[in-house]
Amino acid sequence: MVVTAAQVKKVGVIGAGTMGHGIAQAYAQEGYQVTITDVSKSALTGVKDRVKSNLETIAREGLIPQSEIEKILARITVVDSLENAVRDADFVTEAVFEDLPTKTKIFHEMDRFCSPECVLASNTSSFPMTQISSQMERPERAIVTHWMNPPYLVPLVEVVPGEKTSAETYNTAYEILVKIKKVPVKVQREILGFLINRIQTAMNREVFYLLEAGVASAEDIDRAVVTSLGFRLAFLGPLLVRDLAGLDVDCKVADTILPELDSSKQANRLLKDLVKRGDYGAKTGKGFFSYTPESIAEIIRERDRRFIHLLKELY
Ligand SMILES: NC(=O)c1ccc[n+]([C@@H]2O[C@H](COP(=O)([O-])OP(=O)(O)OC[C@H]3O[C@@H](n4cnc5c(N)ncnc54)[C@H](O)[C@@H]3O)[C@@H](O)[C@H]2O)c1
Repeated sequence: MVVTAAQVKKVGVIGAGTMGHGIAQAYAQEGYQVTITDVSKSALTGVKDRVKSNLETIAREGLIPQSEIEKILARITVVDSLENAVRDADFVTEAVFEDLPTKTKIFHEMDRFCSPECVLASNTSSFPMTQISSQMERPERAIVTHWMNPPYLVPLVEVVPGEKTSAETYNTAYEILVKIKKVPVKVQREILGFLINRIQTAMNREVFYLLEAGVASAEDIDRAVVTSLGFRLAFLGPLLVRDLAGLDVDCKVADTILPELDSSKQANRLLKDLVKRGDYGAKTGKGFFSYTPESIAEIIRERDRRFIHLLKELY
């Protein structure tokens, strides 16, 4: 029998990168004691600074009082081994590289080191929990909780049970996410990419095609999506949008446009060429647009400021 959400006091996080440090922050912000570890010394030494900088941004925008920052930071303990991170934990989230053998090994180790009641979640973007938990003695306590970046701001967490995940594990994962003010959504069966990565990839395939075909500039494609789909989708789901528009119209438009859409089964050539050149986007200074370290910092500051305004307005 696993813990209930109400019994969870201590949370463990494995992996202190982009997602791990933000997931640790999300739990610490809502009062949980969090222990975090990573195999990289630099990732570990940077955790508190990264969380502090995130907290300063959200305090500046009035989402938390300034006086909370040190209290939240004090709830996060950085440790140097997986065993120390999970030994006393009631709920653990793994957020290491997207590599199946690494995740499978970590779940096998956590199964040994954690208390039998502890729930074990993975932030995998793609692997089914049935595969990640294949070496576990107690796979019924393992589940996917798929967060989005930045995890301390984006509300959605997809919750995806594996074939052996118990109903109790699912309830604990779902309820603890509600307790920390996230919006959990149940994915009913294991499916590659869950909900959001499938929807996002379908849209991006067409976006890359339109850019490659020279139909509009990168700036204009982004502007068109932000000022229409983005504007509406911030609070209307795509199915409700279709209902409001009229399904008869939608049916005709779909029959006309769908045969013309890109239907390729692999990443767009434009995308592959950029990656081959080492242009990975903001992290290398060039992708569809060009960046300096200063411009990236400014874009992220402004992104988070606007996300916080949306959060305050909509959630
Ligand atoms: N970045 C995103 O937008 C995003 C969104 C949703 C889900 N995810 C998923 O979250 C996970 C983490 O992604 P990320 O973007 O934070 O990656 P990242 O590269 O920023 O961080 C991964 C961290 O895991 C650490 N690590 C690797 N092996 C480890 C081990 N054996 N034990 C402990 N730590 C280990 C690395 O040192 C690194 O610091 C992946 O599964 C990814 O698919 C990422």
